[in-house]
Parts: sequence; structure tokens; C-alpha cells
Amino acid sequence: MKIKFGKTAENIVTRKEFPLAKAQKVLKGKTVAVLGYGIQGPGQALNMRDNGINVIVGQRKSGKANSSWARAKKDGWVEGKTLFSLEEAAQKGDIVMMLVSDGSCPEVWKKVEKFVTPGKYLYFSHGFGYVYNKLTGIKPQKGVGLVMVAPKGSGTSVRRNFLSGAGINSSYAFEPNGMKAKDVEEVTKAIGIAVGSGYLFPTTFENEVTSDLVGERGILMGALAGVMEAQFYTLRANGHSPSEAFNETCEELTQSLIRLVDENGMDWMYSNCSQTAQHGALKWRPIFRKATEPVFKRLYKSVKTMQEAKEVIKDTGCADYKERMAAKLQEMHDSEMWQTGAAVRSLRPHEEAKGNASSAGWGGRKIVK
Ligand SMILES: NC(=O)c1ccc[n+]([C@@H]2O[C@H](COP(=O)([O-])OP(=O)(O)OC[C@H]3O[C@@H](n4cnc5c(N)ncnc54)[C@H](OP(=O)(O)O)[C@@H]3O)[C@@H](O)[C@H]2O)c1
Repeated sequence: MKIKFGKTAENIVTRKEFPLAKAQKVLKGKTVAVLGYGIQGPGQALNMRDNGINVIVGQRKSGKANSSWARAKKDGWVEGKTLFSLEEAAQKGDIVMMLVSDGSCPEVWKKVEKFVTPGKYLYFSHGFGYVYNKLTGIKPQKGVGLVMVAPKGSGTSVRRNFLSGAGINSSYAFEPNGMKAKDVEEVTKAIGIAVGSGYLFPTTFENEVTSDLVGERGILMGALAGVMEAQFYTLRANGHSPSEAFNETCEELTQSLIRLVDENGMDWMYSNCSQTAQHGALKWRPIFRKATEPVFKRLYKSVKTMQEAKEVIKDTGCADYKERMAAKLQEMHDSEMWQTGAAVRSLRPHEEAKGNASSAGWGGRKIVK
């Protein structure tokens, strides 16, 4: 259906015109092999299983108690029946879903390429593996339909929002690559609905990878943490208490203002604050925009020139990446700002009632320490 976003109309897919029953029909008789049981893997595999799709999981084996293999077994996947090595799953699957980490794509693709034969579909949740095929080596044979559904959220949210009924929006793209375009399009939309998308909006593999890499390095994660730290430590350096600095930087944002933005937009949030806050925010908004725009332009260029992709493959593809990342996350965890955050969260009335239990709920991977 056509929906106007501002002045621009886009063709989107909702569950109304593509209901689950239609998705089940399109995927009937097909085995969907989810390769990788990290964050997206479990979210999408469990949602599809609950939606009546024939799903199997491919995951490298490990004896460790907190490994992805162990988590897959805990989630009810049965070794030899629905849980296999990456190679076996790729061989059995009609739709092979590459949900291993982007950095491991070159290594994993070498193992599974021979099983992704004409007539099958190769699926991604990110344009990375396919667009950067000079780096990843993913060049599927002619006759393999290329499918992408990229949920705009963590795999944890893909599952949680499915369980709550909210769904999560996803972008989608496909390339027939020698297959019938209509078939590839139908499979793409069917998978998009089966993994629990709220609505699906069209993109290209190239646009998805570019916007996604910019977004997560930018406002969604990198810029968010960077700007918060800049304000928190400015307040601290000027003698404000940790509690005051944290409440003015993070707590008020996550517990109040961003929820208003979520409900009705930024303009509405502005119009529901004090005139003093509104006046100052309207004055400083363009100043922050001007100050950060050059950084966003630099970031965009770094993505477009493949610099970011090269770094991801070089750094996340190596054996000790998890340990090195854990050390960096530990440094963030131990920082004054996030230690203050932990203390502030523990004082929220509902957290106290729960005995300060983690609010993680379903899933969520533990930081490796
Ligand atoms: N996470 C998100 O929020 C999100 C959102 C949208 C799209 N995506 C996309 O979804 C895909 C999967 O992302 P993810 O975040 O779920 O990935 P991830 O957690 O970083 O990776 C998980 C999987 O990759 C496997 N893996 C890593 N290195 C491997 C190697 N050398 N050989 C074999 N397997 C290896 C892991 O197995 P082990 O546990 O055994 O290492 C695990 O099964 C990516 O393309 C990502 O860009 C992710």
C-alpha cells in the first residue's frame, strides 16, 4: 500500500495485505535454514517457528555452557533434527539465512557456498555480506534468489516485540539473479512477515548497508553515547553531583522525554515542556546540528568508501574479538557515568520492588567477561 511520509509516498507492505496465512502458503514445503544463533538468529528463528514455518538452525558447535550452540539447545532446537552444523543446515535449507556475524562472512561463506545451489534462496538481514562481496567473497551462483529483510532493531527486540504483538519494522530488498522475480519477491515478503515485522519498506542492498552503518555509528549508538558522555562529564567537571549529572543527561531522556517523542514526535515533546526548556532547546538545536554535521558527513564518507566495512572484517573476524570487545564494554560499564546509571536504575520504584533484578526479560546475550 502507498503511504505518504511527509511529501514522499512509499510503497510499504503490512500484515493486512500480506497476512501470515499468505506467508505460510508461500513458504509451505520449504525448509528455512537459519545460519548463526547470535542475536538476530534466535529472534528470527523462534518467531518463524512460532509462526508455523519449517525452520532449522545451523550453528558451529561448542561445549561451553554460554555458547550460541548451548543457547540454541536451551531454546528447544534438537541436535540432528532441527540443529545442525553450518554446512549441514545450508545443505538441507531451501532458504539459507546468513545470520552469522558480518565479520565472519568470508570464513562461513567458504564453508557453505557449495550448498547454496540454483533454485535456492540466500537471505541476509544486512546488505553487508552481499554489497561488500569484494571483501566477503559472497558471490552466489546464477539462479540463487537473493533476499534481504533487515529488522530495524536488535534481535532481542525482534523477539520481544513479537511476543508482545508489537512487531518491528524491517526494510526489504531482493534480486532475482536469474530466478523468477515474482517468486523472489513473494518469498522476501513472506519471510518478512514470518519473522515478525511490523511493516516492511523497500530499499536496496546498497542503501540498507549504508544507512544502517551510518545509523548505528551515529545517533543510534555512537553519537548517542558520545554526546551523553560529553554533557555528563561537563556537568561533573563543574561540580555537579553524579546523580544530578546523570538525571539531567540520561534518566530524564529515557524515562520521560524520549517517550513523548515516541508517542507524538519531537515538536510535541517541545510543546509539552516548560517555555524555558523550549526556548533554550530551540536556540541550541541549530548549534548542535552545525557542530555535528561535519562529523556525520565524515562518517557517511567512511561508510561509502568501505573503510568501516574493512575495519569490521579485520577486527571482528579475528579469534580474540569477543575478549577485546568485552574489555572495551567493561571500561564503559566501569565508567563513572554508567556506574551512576546502575545506581539510579536500582532506585526506580519498580526495580526496588523486583529486588533490583535485571529488566532484560527475554534473551539478551551476556557480555563475555
Ligand atoms: N544484532 C542486531 O541487532 C542486528 C539487527 C539487524 C540486522 N543484523 C544483521 O544480522 C546478522 C547477524 O547479526 P547478529 O548481531 O546476530 O550477529 P552476531 O551476534 O555478531 O553473530 C552471531 C553468530 O555468528 C557466529 N559466528 C561468529 N564468528 C563465526 C565464525 N568465525 N565461524 C562461524 N560462526 C561464527 C556466532 O557463533 P558463535 O557464537 O559460536 O561465535 C553466532 O552464531 C548480521 O548480518 C547483522 O548485521 C543484526
